[in-house]
Amino acid sequence: MYALARELLFKLNPETSHELAVDLIGAGGRLGLNRLVCQTPRLPVTVMGLEFPNPVGLAAGLDKNGDAIDGFAQLGFGFIEIGTVTPRPQPGNPKPRLFRLPQAEAIINRMGFNNQGVDHLLERVKAAKYRGVLGINIGKNFDTPVERAVDDYLLCLDKVYAHASYVTVNVSSPNTPGLRSLQFGDSLKQLLEALRVRQEELTVRHGRRVPLAIKIAPDMSDEETVLVARALLDTGMDAVIATNTTLGREGVEGLAHADEAGGLSGAPVRDKSTHTVRILAGELAGKLPIIAVGGITEGVHATEKMAAGASLVQIYSGFIYKGPALIRAAVDAIAAAGNKR
Ligand SMILES: Cc1cc2nc3c(=O)[nH]c(=O)nc-3n(C[C@H](O)[C@H](O)[C@H](O)COP(=O)(O)O)c2cc1C
Repeated sequence: MYALARELLFKLNPETSHELAVDLIGAGGRLGLNRLVCQTPRLPVTVMGLEFPNPVGLAAGLDKNGDAIDGFAQLGFGFIEIGTVTPRPQPGNPKPRLFRLPQAEAIINRMGFNNQGVDHLLERVKAAKYRGVLGINIGKNFDTPVERAVDDYLLCLDKVYAHASYVTVNVSSPNTPGLRSLQFGDSLKQLLEALRVRQEELTVRHGRRVPLAIKIAPDMSDEETVLVARALLDTGMDAVIATNTTLGREGVEGLAHADEAGGLSGAPVRDKSTHTVRILAGELAGKLPIIAVGGITEGVHATEKMAAGASLVQIYSGFIYKGPALIRAAVDAIAAAGNKR
């Protein structure tokens, strides 16, 4: 059935088809239809102190505004991450800014955090019926200078805290100038320390500790990835999400749109992401959970991520190319690999 839907959706330009797909998934959720499409077996796991019905989640960026939370949840995801959301609404980069590379099962995007702002997102979260694990991914506005980025993250953290199961700090989008510089050295430490202090204050105020995860890029050297891992341990973060899209173009050379600016996702980022997970796992030694994302287009890729050291996985591009059946395939593959161990 998805093959037919995909054929129709792929006839539209990528951004129109994206919006239509989110609308349809949202509508299916309101009507309770989506759970008829997909039944995901239970494979419960506890990570960051949260209970997940299965370890396969929706990655950030597909439901940026939280408009279709119930719809995505009913498709069988074990958790949903919405955002990236910024303090104020912003339009993102000029269109076109989203490109499909179907031969490579890949996407290039330079959306630039187009979103309706944190207040709109919170209205959507409050309206949703979903009571499962909900991650809220936060970022900075395009026009906030990077030296003041911490103000935007703290503002978003304050606002979303009471409504999130966990909060993801996105410092790895390649489409907001300067953002990725926050992954390094003193900038990273200062950001993480400020967020941790605020997390402690909010824990007291709300009587609940909401875990903080940081989402990183796949484009760092091994040494840089190790330094990130150490900073996460030193500051007491709760999890790391690896990875965002890549600026590299390996695996898509010569294809239409390969030279578009932006982040590349899907099959070509798979091995780079898994490598990042492996380097993190070596340094973190089980002290901090890893959520792996990047290039899962078949069930077996989810098991590769788990074997590299992940506790949970997320999918984005694979969902666009394979549809909701990929969720079940990933859960089944992880379950089968677990049984063999
Ligand atoms: C069109 C598009 C928009 C995205 N927007 C976001 C975003 O707003 N925040 C974020 O953290 N990641 C965003 N991502 C990155 C994905 O969450 C994911 O980390 C990345 O695409 C790798 O996974 P995949 O290969 O399964 O797509 C976006 C990806 C795509 C393709």
